[in-house]
Order: sequence, then structure tokens, then C-alpha cells
Amino acid sequence: MDEKLLNYYLELRSPDSGEWNLSPQCLHTELITRDYISKSFAVTNSLQVCNVGIGMGDWDNYLGYWLNGRGTVTSIDINKAICEIFEYRQRREGHPNPSKVLCMSIFDEGVPAAEFEIVTLIGSAINETGNFNKCLDSCFGLLKPGGHLMFMANTRKSPVEMVEQYIRSTEHQMEELNTYDAFPEYPFYICKIKKPGETTL
Ligand SMILES: C[S@@+](CC[C@H](N)C(=O)[O-])C[C@H]1O[C@@H](n2cnc3c(N)ncnc32)[C@H](O)[C@@H]1O
Repeated sequence: MDEKLLNYYLELRSPDSGEWNLSPQCLHTELITRDYISKSFAVTNSLQVCNVGIGMGDWDNYLGYWLNGRGTVTSIDINKAICEIFEYRQRREGHPNPSKVLCMSIFDEGVPAAEFEIVTLIGSAINETGNFNKCLDSCFGLLKPGGHLMFMANTRKSPVEMVEQYIRSTEHQMEELNTYDAFPEYPFYICKIKKPGETTL
């Protein structure tokens, strides 16, 4: 497993991935997204947060540090290899508040129902699921009443109008939508959408 982990670290700086991972555009999206959650959500005791789509795992790793001592993170991903290396990486790095990893599709019947105060859906995860509206619906299903979905997406891949239009057709409420175009070649937005019910935050 250590060899797999070494390959995973090397892959992050390979010619295929390193150019993007080291770019100002990538650092900018990461900075804004991490700053957004830490400023937009109050951390109460026992806060339950779920992220859908682990990918590189840095976002999930960050969430665990953000909540350390105050809450827990559940990370859902359909890809078994990604789930395994992420769990192992957190163990090997000695993460003090590792995720509970659920290796399943967000569309599976067995996903937790109404368990989380916050669900996050970041980057191309929504596009990879292949069904924009169904993916949002499944994320809302994970939320407790009054919980929030934090959705970050590339404006070109997931136009703002698409999410706004869909949310208008549901009972959920768009509480905030910020767009970021400091790097016009990688414009993105972050929105905070509330599921109806008793407010938990
Ligand atoms: C490109 S990554 C982005 C993840 C992460 N938020 C980031 O920004 O690095 C997308 C992830 O979504 C996962 N994924 C794709 N379809 C999924 C599904 N139906 N259910 C759960 N995870 C899925 C993929 O396995 C992949 O790890």
C-alpha cells in the first residue's frame, strides 16, 4: 500500500496533473473555497458534514482539520481505488479527524438519509455523476431539514443559470451565490442552498 501511496503523491506532480495543481488558477479556487466554508458556516458541536466526490482528497482532508474536535466528516465516492487510497493516506499521514469513507454512488439507495447539517459538492464531481439535477437531489437527500448544500462549480461546465433555474423549481432556497472571475479562463461560483425545515446553523 505504501508503494500505491507513493505513486499517488507522484501523480499529483506528474506532467499531466502538476501543471494544473501548481497553477495560480488552481490555488485560487482552493483558497476561495476553503475560505468560503470557514467564513460562511458556524461550527457548532457535533457538526456532521458530508462531501460527495473525493478525487484528490485535499478538500475532504481540509474539512477534517476545519472540524477537528468539533465535528465529523463523511466522504462519499463511487471509485473503490480512490476510497482506499484516501483512507490509507489519512491513516498514514496521522490525520487527527479522518473521514468516515463510504464507497458508493451518490445515487445508491443505501446512502445516508437526512443525516448531515452540511453537504459539499465541489468542482467537477457533479459533472462526473452524469446527471446534474439528480445529483443535486441526492445531495439534498443527505441533508437534515434546515441543512445547507455548499455547491462549487466551474461556470463553463455548470452554468449558473442551470443551478438557479433548477433550485427555483424546488422547495430549496438559494441563500447566496458568489461568482469568481479573477482568472477569466477558470471562472467559478459557490452557492449556499438551504433545505427547508428547522434551521440547524
Ligand atoms: C474530479 S473529482 C472532484 C472531487 C473533489 N471535489 C475535488 O475538487 O478534487 C470527482 C469525484 O467524483 C467521484 N464520482 C463520480 N461519480 C460519482 C457518483 N455517482 N457518486 C459518488 N462519487 C462520484 C469520482 O470518483 C471522483 O473521485
